[in-house]
Amino acid sequence: MKRTIKDLVNLKGKVVLLRVDFNVPMDNAGRILDKTRINQAIPTIKYLKEKGAKVVVMTHLGRPEGYEIRKSLWQISLILMQSLSGNVYFCNSVIGDDAKNRIKSMNEGDVLLLENLRFYEGETKCDMKFAKEIASLGDVYVNDAFGVAHRKHASTYGVARILPNAIGLLVEKEVKELTDAMTKPKRPFVAVVGGLKVPGKIKVLKTLLDACDVLLIGGAMAYTFLVAQGTIVGQSIVYDKCVLEAQSILKYAQSSGKKIVLPVDHVAVHAEDKKKKKFVTDKLIEDMVGYDIGPKTIDLFINEIQKAGQIVWNGPLGMYEEEAFQKGTNKVAKAIAMSPAYSIVGGGDSISAIKKSGFANKINFLSTGGGAMLEFIEKGSLPCIDIIQEKIR
Ligand code: 3PG
Repeated sequence: MKRTIKDLVNLKGKVVLLRVDFNVPMDNAGRILDKTRINQAIPTIKYLKEKGAKVVVMTHLGRPEGYEIRKSLWQISLILMQSLSGNVYFCNSVIGDDAKNRIKSMNEGDVLLLENLRFYEGETKCDMKFAKEIASLGDVYVNDAFGVAHRKHASTYGVARILPNAIGLLVEKEVKELTDAMTKPKRPFVAVVGGLKVPGKIKVLKTLLDACDVLLIGGAMAYTFLVAQGTIVGQSIVYDKCVLEAQSILKYAQSSGKKIVLPVDHVAVHAEDKKKKKFVTDKLIEDMVGYDIGPKTIDLFINEIQKAGQIVWNGPLGMYEEEAFQKGTNKVAKAIAMSPAYSIVGGGDSISAIKKSGFANKINFLSTGGGAMLEFIEKGSLPCIDIIQEKIR
């Protein structure tokens, strides 16, 4: 069992370096679309404040190449000020004299948000010189950044190698919920997977199949599977390198008595049609491109969801960034939210669709991890959690 913040004693007056994942979705104008990740880290910040720690909060936002004003965290510091009582400050650097001086002038219970870690190239390279500079700012390191715990970066991994450390309340909750869901699932266990990152996600499907009873595949992932079973998909996105793996997953499902449900109809457009006039079709032929699951597929998916005892969902079922192709995702989101099954939803678009349904409060657990949630399901742990010290018994 990993050490949690509840195992840390004498936090009064200590500088706690708290890594969170405030990588929130934003629109093109830089407006924050969903604050779930910020809200989920608040209990840890409050706990540390109450214990009299000086809380130095660190996060990345997006994938900037050097400084980008739109990726600055000042906007997030305003949200933190609204969510927390007491003093919340912002520092427009991560390391150096400015950060050091600001930390020196903090009082017990104060919160200081540092600037975007990814403005520094040492962060994603896990440069230990950069990690040492960060570590020199504090006494203790706490990792509450579940969403990025699959990335071995300077602030998620390097600093943990140097300072005494623990996980935060959010990481503790994510680990417990996901471990329970995979080891003690309520039956039938229905997994729903979609989204575009097929090469990354396909690896997790065998593990998911071992645990679940029914696997519903939509989104871009579905076309690779349709090709693997010999169905033509017109010009829809297919990851050629993943077709063999998809075939072996289909065979594995057959031999292990598990059910995989693939789309039987589609909302499509003609590749050459600049106006993207959509239509429903059972067969994607010639220049047709599938952009969403069709009405028969929605019914098939909802039918499985209504029978489920537990549901885990990650990834949109169509091209969610365009409103015209959101129907499948939104209908499935609503069905999951309305179902009495134990439900876990992870990933930005899936959470946004659940919130749109108006029934987000009916979901048992909203995971802050997209890729991290899937990697946790696949491997049973994540490197930036593994590196945290064990509880002393
Ligand atoms: C996420 O949004 O999945 C995490 O914050 C990790 O972000 P990254 O994929 O840019 O590393």
